[in-house]
Amino acid sequence: MIRKIPVAELKVGMYVVKYGEGTYTNPFISVEKPLLSETSAAKYIPPSVSEVFIDDAINLDLKALARQAALAQEEEEGPPPQVPLTDEIVVVEKVYNEALGYAKNFMDSVRQGKPVDYREAVPMVDGVIASVFRNERAGATLCKLRRFDEYTYTHCINVSVLAVILGKHLRLSKKALRMLGIAGLFHDVGKARIPEDILNKPGRLSDREFKVMQGHTLEGFKIMQEQKGLHQEILRAVLQHHERYDGRGYPQGLKGPDIGKFTRIVSVVDVYDALTSKRVYKDALAPTRALGMMYQWRLSDFYPNSVEHFIKCMGVYPVGSFVKLSDGSHGIICDDNPAYLLRPRVKVILDAQMRQVPIRVVDLATAQHEGQALRIEECLNPADYRIDLSRYFFA
Ligand SMILES: [Fe+2]
Repeated sequence: MIRKIPVAELKVGMYVVKYGEGTYTNPFISVEKPLLSETSAAKYIPPSVSEVFIDDAINLDLKALARQAALAQEEEEGPPPQVPLTDEIVVVEKVYNEALGYAKNFMDSVRQGKPVDYREAVPMVDGVIASVFRNERAGATLCKLRRFDEYTYTHCINVSVLAVILGKHLRLSKKALRMLGIAGLFHDVGKARIPEDILNKPGRLSDREFKVMQGHTLEGFKIMQEQKGLHQEILRAVLQHHERYDGRGYPQGLKGPDIGKFTRIVSVVDVYDALTSKRVYKDALAPTRALGMMYQWRLSDFYPNSVEHFIKCMGVYPVGSFVKLSDGSHGIICDDNPAYLLRPRVKVILDAQMRQVPIRVVDLATAQHEGQALRIEECLNPADYRIDLSRYFFA
């Protein structure tokens, strides 16, 4: 339907048909163009004109069009060829180590009041994205199985990697994935301004110490606000990643849609990595147990469906999970079978009596035991058995 509206009500995406009154002194002037930007009206319409005709039938959702164009381009190019997990782990480990060194330097510089530039991290985030497109299990596996010492830094890299994996699952564009990876990498940068005795305290924090610790969100925002050209959604993720959907979070107690788009992703993977990481005051939770707990909190803590998406993307049995099989043996999930979510590939490392056996990989899609399909009996927490899975996984 063609209708007349004041120029002041024009919005990007509207299709401008004409302006004028159709009289001799003020004839209709044909425009026949969509408004492509806030400022483009000035190019089409003289300042003296106060009303224009628009066609509601052609109202372009430019953002949707841009998203579709990006997806179409990716589909045209086709997904990059998938690389076997063991090969990709070697590649992504180099990126991971480089990012770890960068994160340490960045936070040390912040501590010492030296200038910092987030843009140096962009090639590393691009390296993570490229790896995730070649084999997304590699980054996820490295996050969970490699043993690195310093939690504050490894956590930042893990959150960046896991956020990119979840973002890819949500079909974000590569440009958005880059911003998301940066948001993950810097989400805890404010911890550089938290006293070390509080940051690394082995026991429970007192109320006062907890208040100081909570300040890392605002401190991080201040640090990153000084970076030129940083996207608002990245800043929001740094400030808001401890906000909770029901408003119980900090620092502002924001609720629901007031929480930023990247923040919703970063906060899910932040909690997952914290739960599944070993700290001086707690053991790591098994991935399936952590996902189960997050599923229970999904309505209160997280944006709707974000936990469900994360579970889908990590798999029912995330790579790196320690499991007991129906023949009594024990192993580590080492790869998934997309066609059989409950029947991944398992690296068997221990027998039924927890004695070491020659490592072998079994594919639960085909493996049998006593005439029946070999299956996963239960997920175990390696911490309960004092087992260092990385020793076996990378053997
Ligand atoms: Fe944090």
